[in-house]
Amino acid sequence: MGKVKGLDVGTMNLVGAEQDDKGKIKLKLMRHTFLDIEANAFTLNMLKKQKVQYAELGKKVYVLGDSAFELANIMNKVVRRPMQDGVMSPGEADAVPIFALLVEAVLGKPDFKDQLCYFSVPADPVDANFNIVYHTSVIQGALKNLGYIGKPMNEGHAVVFAELGDKDFTGIGISAGGGMFNICVSYKTIPAISFATSRAGDWVDRNVAQVLGIKTTRATAIKEKGININKPANREEEAVCIAI
Ligand SMILES: Nc1ncnc2c1ncn2[C@@H]1O[C@H](COP(=O)(O)OP(=O)(O)OP(=O)(O)O)[C@@H](O)[C@H]1O
Ligand SMILES: [Mg+2]
Repeated sequence: MGKVKGLDVGTMNLVGAEQDDKGKIKLKLMRHTFLDIEANAFTLNMLKKQKVQYAELGKKVYVLGDSAFELANIMNKVVRRPMQDGVMSPGEADAVPIFALLVEAVLGKPDFKDQLCYFSVPADPVDANFNIVYHTSVIQGALKNLGYIGKPMNEGHAVVFAELGDKDFTGIGISAGGGMFNICVSYKTIPAISFATSRAGDWVDRNVAQVLGIKTTRATAIKEKGININKPANREEEAVCIAI
């Protein structure tokens, strides 16, 4: 078996992973966001000069990844996101083609045909009524189009593999994400219990946005700036601490 790649498919961030020749793991992270903009020849030229990642699909122009997040905050808009609550967003018409573009940006092309790529999937949530079947097959389809063979792996279980090598892979792996919390109880590599809950970072952002009367993307930026939750410095930070 040749080299394998990894892809963490998150509601807020996409992370591609591969090993270099010395066995060191290289990560490429990108915000899992996009924003459609009114574009003419002048703005496209500006985007190119500023090295902003964008894509043209049909007649629309989309700014991708971290630039979309920054631009949305400047323009007081809400970023669009291919995923919601830990899975592909059912209400986002452009989710699948944009997801495919972002995956290519973090993973690149395969080193050889049919290279294996393990990707993270959430467990079925205990407090929401959906499953991950459609989500998993969309990711597998996008990877196949790029020339990979995609293999799903439970996100909590992946945390166990990453962190509990010195404990015989026995313990609890927790991933606190944007869309979900994923929890996996593992005994000697075998996942005994795995489940997810749908209150995570986005839920905090929605609550903060509501009480402060601001956009959710702005609430994300306030939260991520780094807050001392024992000593909030202003009303905005207090709102984040209460939501947490
Ligand atoms: N410095 C920070 N302080 C507080 N929260 C942060 C900080 N940096 C990131 N976050 C929050 O952590 C969450 C993102 O975590 P992560 O990238 O693991 O999620 P994800 O894998 O994209 O989502 P999921 O696994 O739920 O689909 C977001 O809610 C983000 O706003
Ligand atoms: Mg995650």
